[in-house]
Amino acid sequence: MSEHKESSAGTQEQHIALWGGRFKSGPSIALAALSKSTQFDWRLADDDIAGSRAHARALGRAGLLTPDELADMEKALDRLQADVDSGAFAPIEADEDEATALERGLLDIAGDELGGKLRAGRSRNDQIAALIRMWTRRQARVVAGLVLQTVDALIEQSVAAGNTVMPGRTHMQHAQPVLLAHQLMAHVWPLLRDVQRFVDWDKRADASPYGSGALAGNTLGLDPVAVATELGFSTTTQNSIDGTASRDVVAEFSFICAMLGVDISRLSEEIIIWNTQEFAFVKLDDAYSTGSSIMPQKKNPDIAELARGKSGRMIGDLTGLLTTLKGLPTAYARDLQEDKEAVFDQVDTLTVLLPAFAGMIATMKFDKDRLESEAPTGFALATDIAEWLVKNGVPFRHAHELSGECVRIAESRGVELWDLTDDDFIAVFADFLPSVLAPKVREVLSAQGSVDSRNGVGGTASARVAEQIDQANQVASDLAKFAVSVSDGSAYKPEGSLN
Ligand code: ARG
Repeated sequence: MSEHKESSAGTQEQHIALWGGRFKSGPSIALAALSKSTQFDWRLADDDIAGSRAHARALGRAGLLTPDELADMEKALDRLQADVDSGAFAPIEADEDEATALERGLLDIAGDELGGKLRAGRSRNDQIAALIRMWTRRQARVVAGLVLQTVDALIEQSVAAGNTVMPGRTHMQHAQPVLLAHQLMAHVWPLLRDVQRFVDWDKRADASPYGSGALAGNTLGLDPVAVATELGFSTTTQNSIDGTASRDVVAEFSFICAMLGVDISRLSEEIIIWNTQEFAFVKLDDAYSTGSSIMPQKKNPDIAELARGKSGRMIGDLTGLLTTLKGLPTAYARDLQEDKEAVFDQVDTLTVLLPAFAGMIATMKFDKDRLESEAPTGFALATDIAEWLVKNGVPFRHAHELSGECVRIAESRGVELWDLTDDDFIAVFADFLPSVLAPKVREVLSAQGSVDSRNGVGGTASARVAEQIDQANQVASDLAKFAVSVSDGSAYKPEGSLN
């Protein structure tokens, strides 16, 4: 319909714009290049057309389109959608944004007379605020589904780990033995909370700004509730300025994506360390690791490294968005256009990262023998000695000292705690325990014994870990309903909470 030509004054001679009446010339080529957003916002086209359909019906109900006009408008929008789907219609260079492109497409199909009626009572300001909510609400479900695949893979590995014990660490130093399953499940809970965050966020995103107009609302008697319902929202925003100006909903979505990135990154770091020759706790499957172009022997944990790296980029997306928002006056300003690339990038990143990540987790193989043999080393049973003494009536302050004395002796001889002799224990505990009792401390000097004794709620004892696996499975299967729900705000109601 229009050609994009440069005039001698460096302006676009023919451009289709949604504004222009008051301007003598078209925008300069430089402005048009800066202003153009179709290269990233075209992905909102389907949501925009859905919005146009709902808006056309609102115009019909308000008597601003006759029934015939509404029918023709709906047909034109169907045709436009089909052309967008087939690729027959796409933005051209002169289109400022997706809304401008779609207006051009509609005018082509429906003609200026009818097509020109659709813009009444709406602004790109309320339109774009609605579209970003529609888009993020749908993507939250997609990302949630992918996170749950990683959760499932971790739970399956936890079940497969059985009673395998491993060294638990604090400050990266051997601390206390834990079940491998317990350590793996420690990564499941944050991921489940991330999905719960999406569910919770969705309640706030579930309000349509459509009908807010540019700023102050509309004068045409349109029914925003009906539009909201058609677009899958259960309510409308309560304030037209807030509806068009706020992006906290987008920022919160962005935070959840960034947090997810961080949670995946921490698990990645663990896997990278476990996969070193020195640790040798885990081996990654060939299909989920990479080689080196120069060192033939190399097998690298690139998925985990990319996950760790991409978390930085997703934090950057969030930080950029918050920084954009912080100084803005409370009404639409063009800065708000910057909200989109941040979350588009995060969703693109997560949708390519998570399937690879889940595959890596599902296929990695633990060296159980090595984990078992390392579990009690490094004096990891010292706390068990102290707690055994407490159970035998020794005040903890002394018990801590006595256990520390055992560590000191073992360390000076270059042996482990269980290598101390009965006489050593009798001598160390002499002020507190009868000599017949002292050597019985050996009961707790095994990693499995240590793990089984930690049977308090949330502890690493096998029975407790089995319980938490059941609980996590329940939470995950409830959250799976969110992942497959349509974003209509009513299809999913969470059954329980993590707490
Ligand atoms: N492309 C704009 C955005 O994404 C749409 C709204 C433009 N509104 C305006 N008055 N220029 O935010």
